[in-house]
Amino acid sequence: MQIQWYPGHMAKAKRMMEDNIKLIDVVIELVDARVPLSSKNPDIDKLAQNKSRVILLNKHDMADPTYTNQWKKYFEDKGYFVSLVNSRSGQGVKQVKDIVNKACEEKIARDRRRGILNRPVRAMVVGIPNVGKSTFINSFVGKASAKTGNKPGVTKGKQWIRISKNIELLDTPGLLWPKFEDTKVGVKLAIIGSINDTILDTRELALELILFLNKYYKSLLVKRYDIVIEDEINDLKDAARLLEAIAIKRSCLLKGGEPDLERAANLFIDDFRSVKLGNITLEIPEQYE
Ligand code: G4P
Repeated sequence: MQIQWYPGHMAKAKRMMEDNIKLIDVVIELVDARVPLSSKNPDIDKLAQNKSRVILLNKHDMADPTYTNQWKKYFEDKGYFVSLVNSRSGQGVKQVKDIVNKACEEKIARDRRRGILNRPVRAMVVGIPNVGKSTFINSFVGKASAKTGNKPGVTKGKQWIRISKNIELLDTPGLLWPKFEDTKVGVKLAIIGSINDTILDTRELALELILFLNKYYKSLLVKRYDIVIEDEINDLKDAARLLEAIAIKRSCLLKGGEPDLERAANLFIDDFRSVKLGNITLEIPEQYE
């Protein structure tokens, strides 16, 4: 799903979130493990005050496991309950029930003290477009659960899905809007393919990605394209030379034999998105401590 965000869309998404969030105990927030901060909208912290919070590092099958573990700790240190999931394969999805229960332990104990036994906790999945909300919900819900139907006191039309004896999930995810104030956020979301490539053209995205990979994943670049990187790559101009080398290695050439940078950029970005370059994380936790 690709959405152009206008102020009207954001206001609507925010209103829906405000309405739904009143009904729930725990927010299950999906972020993309390759860009955990750029795929997270901090506005949710204000909207979800006083709610239990779970963060799922989704698509961790595509990210760098070392950094994913560091991100897990980063969010845990901030008080979130965190788990890694691959919603596409279902790996890690079952464990989310345990995490939700853990995040709600205090609420369950409070209910118990008041004599309320076995009241299910209510959860809602939130995240920016393309982060994997629908895929996760399908996997989390599985076959076993049934819709519980409308309940008194709940806004008409809201569907709750019984996940287990003590968890109910709102069937529609809450849509968060990306936080574009920092231009780097838009670039990273475009590189992973989460938003329209129109923010920058593919060539510019490729050059930005080359700059980053040269710094943190040089060996993957060298291995994938069988190139030698001897010069310092400090800016986009330097990165363009590397893209040329990739174009030549991959026979992306124009009629006159010149490197076809447009084609090479597309091939390069595709290689990244399909994990052919390897498991890569675009945000390094230590830079955000
Ligand atoms: P959304 O509701 O948040 O907008 O996201 P959605 O579930 O539609 O997922 C967006 C894309 O991300 C889908 O790919 C989906 O398969 C993929 N995806 C979701 N979770 C994971 C994950 O944990 N790992 C990986 N590798 N991919 C994941 P698509 O190509 O757009 O669709 P499809 O071809 O898979 O149907």
